[in-house]
Order: sequence, then structure tokens, then C-alpha cells
Amino acid sequence: MSETEVHASVDDAARAQRGRRLHVITWGCQMNAYDSARMADLLAAHGFTETGAAEEADLVILNTCHIREHATEKVFSELGRLRQLKEARARAGRPTLIALAGCVAQAEGEEILRRAPYVDVVVGPQVYHRLPELLAARAGGGAVIATDFPADSKFEALPANGAGQSRRRVSAFLTIQEGCDKFCTFCVVPYTRGAEASRPARSILAEAKALLAQGVREIVLLGQNVNAWEGEGLDGRPWRLARLLEALAALEGLVRLRYTTSHPCDMDEALIAAHRDIPALAPFLHLPVQSGSDRVLKAMNRRHGVRDYLTLVERLRRARPDIALSSDFIVGFPGETAADFEATLALARAVGFAQAYSFKYSPRPGTPAAEATDQVPEAEKAARLAALQDVLGESQRDFNQKTVGRRLPVLFTGPGRHPGQIAGRSPYQQAVHAEGPARLIGTLAEVEISAAEAHSLRGSLSPPAEP
Ligand code: SAH
Ligand code: SF4
Ligand code: F3S
Repeated sequence: MSETEVHASVDDAARAQRGRRLHVITWGCQMNAYDSARMADLLAAHGFTETGAAEEADLVILNTCHIREHATEKVFSELGRLRQLKEARARAGRPTLIALAGCVAQAEGEEILRRAPYVDVVVGPQVYHRLPELLAARAGGGAVIATDFPADSKFEALPANGAGQSRRRVSAFLTIQEGCDKFCTFCVVPYTRGAEASRPARSILAEAKALLAQGVREIVLLGQNVNAWEGEGLDGRPWRLARLLEALAALEGLVRLRYTTSHPCDMDEALIAAHRDIPALAPFLHLPVQSGSDRVLKAMNRRHGVRDYLTLVERLRRARPDIALSSDFIVGFPGETAADFEATLALARAVGFAQAYSFKYSPRPGTPAAEATDQVPEAEKAARLAALQDVLGESQRDFNQKTVGRRLPVLFTGPGRHPGQIAGRSPYQQAVHAEGPARLIGTLAEVEISAAEAHSLRGSLSPPAEP
């Protein structure tokens, strides 16, 4: 084939693909949400437009999470539903491709195709930049599977972040770090996402600038261990997160910066100081502690004790007195006694979290804790979870209540629930609703908080905005 013929056939393929519809289903963490948006960006360049309706889609991507039990069963049940859809569309003469992405794709690989042979492509989180090529390979033969951890970075191969988005975004995710080397004994992430890797500052800053040029005002940096980020700096030397935050905060148009998820062991002095020194950095930190018992933390291989965590919280509060903290907890880890659990309740009360997620321990195949013989009975886990959630819920209500009467800078991100209302986020990540004009969307405005409702705050713009 001559070079012109190659170009002609590539063009024909692109033309044939144009007008195709894509539906993406996303489960799991914010990094999966980021990956889904990037897959849509990539496929937009190959003629796909997104649709909210799976039955309209020529390609459905199911982006999966493997973190807790029943993850795999949930995937096969959703795939069963997609199979029916595929068959119904086929009867109407419309072929449908099904791609399985994310951490279950990484963990189960071949098993997916064995149990669900109607799946067309299985693609892991590190190689989704190859989707167009994988779809083309599928068109020419059998199902394809790609779950390697390549040496080259997918980020360099992807089109601009937002290239495929039609909606205006005020807040956007930006993945800067992936993978985990910590090997907590309960967790699958080191196996599904591989070793810790950090993107170079140059590549991150370029992506941030592109987002700001599209009107994004808040950037949320993401990583499985975001504060373990250590990438090549603009000066060619290794930078840590505080230095990167400083460089990002200096970009024109940036209003607010956040980062998540942090590991307590990677909170260095410079990062703590950044909370004091960088005005754009939100006074909010998600800092999972998992348990309030030293014995359990040790068995979890968390690499820190209760005292270390509480000291860290004190240091953060000294640097930024109004910092709000959020956390993750696991109850019913193997061997957790009633006294261990009481220690977790005590830690939750002592810190007074603004927000928290709590889970029953879920044994994950292949992780050390799953092999432990002293598993906690399900009923006990459920009782402990309910008790912990009472304490965490009360502390969140307290925190929200304390903002009533205060004036907070709210970054407005979209319309509110009712006509004439706009909605945004406080510096502490609380949802805020206020009466106000739509032109404030995308800006920071001061709101006097008048009430704390179950899941959001209400307030009025101060001083009231001109009509
Ligand atoms: N990298 C982050 C969290 C990753 S997973 C960190 O180190 O904190 C998100 C949360 O899921 C964890 O913080 C933990 O609370 C929960 N989780 C992970 N594995 C779990 C398991 N096997 N059972 C129950 N909860 C789990
Ligand atoms: Fe999982 Fe622990 Fe790594 Fe977090 S630090 S991703 S909990 S292994
Ligand atoms: Fe789930 Fe993978 Fe994220 S297991 S929590 S989607 S890293």
C-alpha cells in the first residue's frame, strides 16, 4: 500500500467513525472520574460524541472499581445488562461495542472475556490512551485485552484535557500521581494501579494552563497518594508537592487549588507550610486515618500510629487554624477488638472531622489481611459502622452549624436547585446555595451563611449582588 493509500484508508475509517455515540459508566474514585473524562476526550478526536443514554451508544465503556467486596460480581451483573442492550441493538441492525476499563479490568483481565465473551475490549487504567487502536484491532478480529504497565506515559499521548467536553466546567480534576507503594494489608490499589509514579511538573502545568484557558477556576490534583508526588521540576530537579502547588497557584485565572488523597506519612513540613502560605490552597484536607488503634494500624501496615496522626493534625492546625479535615475509616479489620474500636471512636471525637467516609472491612483476594483467621463477624462490623457513623455524622453537623453566621468565599460552579439560585462550594468543601445571578458562576463571591441543612449550607450574597 502506498503512503497516500494509507492516508486514504485512515481517513475513511475516521469518516466511518464520525457521528458515533459513546456512553461511559464510571464507578470508583475520583481518579476513575478523571480517566473516564480523558477517555471521552480521546474518543472525541476519533468522532465519538457522548450520550447519557446507554441504548443510543455505539460504544459503552464501563470504568470499574475493585476496592471492596462484590466488585467483580457487580461488574458481571452490569455486563449482563449491557449484553441485553447489545443484543437488542443488534436486532435493529446497530452494532454495539462494550469496553471494560478500570481496576476490575486490570485485576481480572482474561477472566472477563472467559465469563463475558460479548465484551469487545478489556483495557487497564495505564493504557487507555490506546483505545482507538484497540477498537480498530477489535474491528479486524477477536476481543482484545490490554492490561500492561507501559514505560511510556499515557498522559503524553492523550489530547488536551477537556478537548471532548462540551459543558463548561468550573472545577476540574488533574491526575498528577498514580499508583501506590504502601501496601496496606487490606488494599488492592498497589496491585491494580501499580507502583507510584509522578508526572513531570512541565506536563502538569501545561494541562493546568489548558484547563484555565477553558474557564476552569478550581483544579483538584489527584493521586492515589497525591502527597507522595515527586516529579521533575521546571528547573530539572526533583520537586515535592508544595513546590508544585506554588507554581500552580501562580497561574493566571486560578482561584482555588485542592489535592487528594494524602497519606499521613507523606505530609512533609513544606506541604504543611503551603497551607499557611498559599492563599489559593483550600483550607481542607482529606487525610485517611483508617483506625484509632495503634495495634490495628500496625496490622494494617499504615506506617504511623495514633499519636503521629494527632500530632500531624495539630501541626496542620497551627499552620492554618481554620483547616477542615476529612478522613476514611475501616471498621472490623481482622482482630479488631471492642477496645480497638472504642479507640477509633475516641480519635474521631478528638479530631472533629468536617466530613468522613467509613467502611466495613472487606476481605480482598490476594491481600494479606484477607488470609487472617480472626475475621470480625458481619453483624459486629455492621454495628460498629453504625456507631462510628453516628459520631462522624454528629461531628459533620457540628462543623456545618459552626459556619452559620460566617461570611465565606464561595466558588460558584453551577445553577442551584431552584430558579434564581446558584450553587457552589465553601473553602471547606461544603455545598452552598444562594439566590444570585448566573453570571457569578465561575467566580468567587462572599456569602453570609444563614442555615446549615442536611447536605448543604444556605446563605445570601454579601453585599447583595446587583440584579
Ligand atoms: N490511598 C488512599 C485511599 C485509597 S482507597 C489512602 O491511603 O488512604 C479509599 C478508601 O477505601 C481507603 O481509605 C479505605 O478506607 C477504603 N478501603 C480500601 N480497601 C478497603 C477494604 N479492603 N475494605 C474496606 N475499605 C477499604
Ligand atoms: Fe491502598 Fe494504603 Fe496505598 Fe492507600 S496507601 S492506596 S489504602 S495501599
Ligand atoms: Fe477503585 Fe481503582 Fe480507585 S480500585 S478506588 S477505582 S484506584
